[in-house]
Amino acid sequence: MEITLVKTTKPKPKPDPEKLGFGRVFTDHMFIWDYSEGKGWHNPRIVPYGPLEMDPACAVLHYGQAVFEGMKAYKAPDGRILLFRPEQNMARLNRSNARLSIPQFDEELALQAIKQLVALERDWIPTAPGTALYIRPFIIATDNILGVRPSSSYKFIVILSPVGAYYEEGLNPVSIYVEPYYVRAVRGGTGFAKAAGNYAGSLLAQKNAQAKGYSQVLWLDGIERRYVEEVGAMNVFFNIGGELITPDLGDSILPGVTRDSILQLLRSWGVPTVERRLSVDEVFEAHAQGRLVEAFGCGTAAVVSPIGRLGYREQVIEISGGKIGELTQRLYDTLTGIQTGKLPDPFGWVVEIDI
Ligand code: PLP
Ligand code: COI
Repeated sequence: MEITLVKTTKPKPKPDPEKLGFGRVFTDHMFIWDYSEGKGWHNPRIVPYGPLEMDPACAVLHYGQAVFEGMKAYKAPDGRILLFRPEQNMARLNRSNARLSIPQFDEELALQAIKQLVALERDWIPTAPGTALYIRPFIIATDNILGVRPSSSYKFIVILSPVGAYYEEGLNPVSIYVEPYYVRAVRGGTGFAKAAGNYAGSLLAQKNAQAKGYSQVLWLDGIERRYVEEVGAMNVFFNIGGELITPDLGDSILPGVTRDSILQLLRSWGVPTVERRLSVDEVFEAHAQGRLVEAFGCGTAAVVSPIGRLGYREQVIEISGGKIGELTQRLYDTLTGIQTGKLPDPFGWVVEIDI
């Protein structure tokens, strides 16, 4: 299937690379791919970035049948344009589709479209440390019918945004509030999928935590509200006595590409790692015993984000003296080094766009 191209006649000025923030500015073009029953996925095209026209009855506006992904493109010092394990994002998007009753798409073609779009927008890729071109593929239900049922038409869209740090704190440690009541995901729910509604449901706890002076929440499990699941929209690791512990995957945890890459890196360095249930009590006990060495969140947007302070009910603890931990820093340097083509890529994670 050929991807058609309509170029913009009004290219926008590029933003100041010092003031990017996260996801505020978008490039000149976007990719759109339509689905309708009978025809399947058709008419893949790159067109000028701009508003979508929608009927007010459009299904996604009412019942949130929508999924998305997050990935990044980098420009290496030698000018090569690099993606990081993009096939993982395409596979996860199709798994999200399956959970949300959205039809499967051809992962090869989607990745080809992303490569073409990024190649077209190569001048938008920022190169300062900590910056990248964020890639946001998403799929929305577009039937104009208010019945609650899977849509028979969809749009697969990709937009691009030059980004800096995800958190205002950058790589500085953030304060995290252990959410005792609200949960992000439940057994049998949609937590393992990147479903739009998961994020809508997380906002109230985030807002409450921010009102208490924290940046984000640590989510506990939906049954006993005892076991650690994720931090904000990131996976989470704790270094307890030199062993790196992350919650094992289930249907309430998003299987992060960064999480998986960190596990592989740690194993290759000979650092003991374990994927298992971890209660918040165990984390606080480890701290009381002086065994909680470091804690961090990880995801595409922030790569790693150290946790400097953790508040749970009446208790507040400081981790790593409020500084970034040694392994956290090493993971950040290694991952960003591989992603930006500045370090060797022993795992074959990096995919060059040579269009
Ligand atoms: N957990 C949630 C809920 C997320 O939204 C994300 C972001 O994509 C992650 C974890 C981290 O996943 P990844 O490392 O693939 O970006
Ligand atoms: C991540 O990439 O780590 C994210 O959490 C993406 C976020 C903007 C939803």
